[in-house]
Amino acid sequence: MRTKILELLRNRLGEYVSGESISQNLAVSRTAVWKHIQVLRQDGYVIESHPKLGYCLKTIPDLLLPDELIANLQTRTIGKNIQYFTQVDSTNNMAKKIALEGCPHGTIVIAEEQTLGKGRISRGWYSPRRQGIWFSLVLRPPVNPQHAPKFTLLAAVAICRAIHNATGIKCGIKWPNDILYAGKKVVGILTEMSAEFDLINYVVIGMGIDVNISTEEFPPELKDIATSLKIIAAKKIDRIKLLTEIINQLELFYDMSLKQGFTKILDLWRQMSCTLGQEVDVIGVEEKFKGKAIDIDDEGALLVQTGAGLQRVIAGDVSIRTSSID
Ligand code: BTN
Repeated sequence: MRTKILELLRNRLGEYVSGESISQNLAVSRTAVWKHIQVLRQDGYVIESHPKLGYCLKTIPDLLLPDELIANLQTRTIGKNIQYFTQVDSTNNMAKKIALEGCPHGTIVIAEEQTLGKGRISRGWYSPRRQGIWFSLVLRPPVNPQHAPKFTLLAAVAICRAIHNATGIKCGIKWPNDILYAGKKVVGILTEMSAEFDLINYVVIGMGIDVNISTEEFPPELKDIATSLKIIAAKKIDRIKLLTEIINQLELFYDMSLKQGFTKILDLWRQMSCTLGQEVDVIGVEEKFKGKAIDIDDEGALLVQTGAGLQRVIAGDVSIRTSSID
């Protein structure tokens, strides 16, 4: 009901819609309509009312509310079930919990704020209230667990393209899945999986996008290594528009991976990469070395040319030694 009332008001944003027409349209009493309007106002929708004219939606709140996302989504499965929270410890933790309880493929968990946001390699993730997009996607792909890391590369490609489509900003991907602009991190991705020998139970892809954080808001330890889309664009970014585009792109590339495999996605990753062709320092799981990043292979592993030959890096961290990132 709430969604339908919102749809009627949103279709005539800034205009009055009579309470009578809403109640007739939706076959509910005018009192029921009024009650829903009160709840919408509590959620931050600015709705004016006039005894003769009815209700007028003036502004939509800057919140990642499911109603606002669903109104613009063009997907079949991803984002059809959205769990929205004002605050959680970590959307990945919440997504894993509901995945274990059996939530459908494509479920999305969104939070306005994370109190214990998780980064890769046991790091934290700074996730202030309403300043970013902190969300996790539950996938149940019908593929062998060995293919799971490629879904992280897929997510990086989808986000990079969505940022470009929604804001015009062209970012680059640092292997395996950091999204950078001018050498500073804008997006981090953390993938967690539950699998049996030959079957994936679920993959949770957690994505953190620094959208509207100002320079002075970043903690001192992040100031030199992180940035936000607002800082880059020198204007506030519409989070709803961006997240809708990210979800649309995620489904597009997910469908592509199932129908055509990962070849085209890996090619797009190569085109978007700011690691390939660069001299890099590699901190692998067991070793450290320097070399030139020359390609990724079919599994998404980084191939690094070193004095001792070609090294294949499947996990770890890479830092770029030249300053030619854009
Ligand atoms: C990284 O270290 O680069 C990965 C950062 C991933 C952060 C996102 S924010 C949403 C999701 N929930 C988490 O706790 N982490 C991921």
